[in-house]
Amino acid sequence: MMELTAQAYGKINLSLDVIRKLPNGYHDLRMVMETVALHDDVHITVSEGDGISMQTNLPFLPSDTRNIAAKAAAFFFEKLALPKRHVTIRIHKRIPVAAGMAGGSANAAAVLRGLNTLMETKLSISALMELGGELGSDVPYCIIGGTRLAEGRGEVLTPLSPLPSCHIVICKPKFSISTPELFSRIDCDKIRHRPDTDGMIDALGTGSLSQVAIRLFNVFEDVLDGRKRDIQQIKRTLLEAGALGAAMTGTGPTVFGLFDDKAQASAAYAQLKEHYRETFLTANHSDSLV
Ligand code: C5P
Repeated sequence: MMELTAQAYGKINLSLDVIRKLPNGYHDLRMVMETVALHDDVHITVSEGDGISMQTNLPFLPSDTRNIAAKAAAFFFEKLALPKRHVTIRIHKRIPVAAGMAGGSANAAAVLRGLNTLMETKLSISALMELGGELGSDVPYCIIGGTRLAEGRGEVLTPLSPLPSCHIVICKPKFSISTPELFSRIDCDKIRHRPDTDGMIDALGTGSLSQVAIRLFNVFEDVLDGRKRDIQQIKRTLLEAGALGAAMTGTGPTVFGLFDDKAQASAAYAQLKEHYRETFLTANHSDSLV
């Protein structure tokens, strides 16, 4: 029996722009991604036998191949035509679920990387990223991590200057959002405000946290209708507490704020935690994961 525990880090979108709808129904995106220290633990065991079993600490999550982590394991064995083994996956989740932080994609990425080690398959990171792209648009990013420009479906990744170290308060409102639902609401011809992605890339280049923070922007915030109130309220709380900037991540509904001051971040965390169970005080993890 062989086993390991991999850390599956969450991500936030420092910016998110939807450029156009593609003929295959997906969207051409342009987003600046950042890895956060908040992570799930993915414990993987490979033993004699066949099949995949998995469990998580969240009873409402599926634990068969409807879960992208189990799907990733099955896919890895099938694609590489590996001999049968029994794979056990145990995940301790901390990253909010269906929340815009790529928690499921991070779990799948950890499974691919973990099995590559345990099965001694020696796939390169780019080969793993290619495999990951077949499981989900955010999986390639989750394999490599760091501060990156993500384009195309999200799989065309360019390294950027790392976001300066900062404190990050993350807060998920009490509702969840379905990614396909929000994508179906966006009409690229009607987007009135877009992020200054190039300005953000320049600000990263000069290492200015405040210049990055004032450019945080996500086009999905404008298509949220009634759900926007909670998002705006959390953003206001973060900014009043001293955040240099705040935005929703991915297709939401999680909101984050960037702080250079630890005491202010702690105070914002304490204030939001009173109302929202899924509130976290974390930091960025700008170094690439490989
Ligand atoms: O690739 P993934 O399965 O994670 O995508 C989930 C859903 O998000 C897709 O079914 C699609 O509705 C939407 N999506 C999109 N364009 C992207 C990525 C995702 O429309 N670039």
